Amino acid sequence: MKTFLNIVYWFLIVIALIQFIPVDRTNKPIDQKINFVSVFQTPKNVQEILKKACYDCHSNETVYPKYAFVAPISWSIKHHINEGREHLNFSEWANYNQDLKKSMLENSAKSIKSYSMPMPGYIAQHSEANLTKAERVLLVNYFEEILKSGKY
Ligand code: HEC
Repeated sequence: MKTFLNIVYWFLIVIALIQFIPVDRTNKPIDQKINFVSVFQTPKNVQEILKKACYDCHSNETVYPKYAFVAPISWSIKHHINEGREHLNFSEWANYNQDLKKSMLENSAKSIKSYSMPMPGYIAQHSEANLTKAERVLLVNYFEEILKSGKY
């Protein structure tokens, strides 16, 4: 029993201490010249879907949930956000070259269709990101229309 209490004690101390390790949750300012939704003048209804389903990981407009402030959960969340932004950042769209833009549009449509995006683990915590079939179709069509237009 004593050993067990000792373990609990030290565990709690460690959890308390790691809260002091800083996690950078600042969002970079949005530059409308390179922001996806400004460049394409995305309709409001599509913007809303993007915002609730993709922006937390693929933009500089991340909204951090309360549990994102508790280490070590916060580290895991920040890691996902960094990784998501590295792959695709809608806020910095115009900085991508033509090939990258094309593959991002294609992969976005593909990942929404195959239900691999938004990430299932994220949906479990954010019910609003659990897109309906109609919302998925709308978003996929939107990406595919841009692709077809050849203007991206
Ligand atoms: C919880 C965070 C999260 C959310 C929400 C999310 N993604 Fe992702 N996304 C990631 C991560 C992490 C990766 C990179 C690893 C991987 O491919 O699984 C990624 C990869 C991608 C890629 C692949 C990029 C490449 O390199 O080809 C595309 C495209 C993409 N996401 C689109 C979307 C779209 C569109 C949405 C919204 C409908 C979305 N994602 C929602 C985290 C997220």
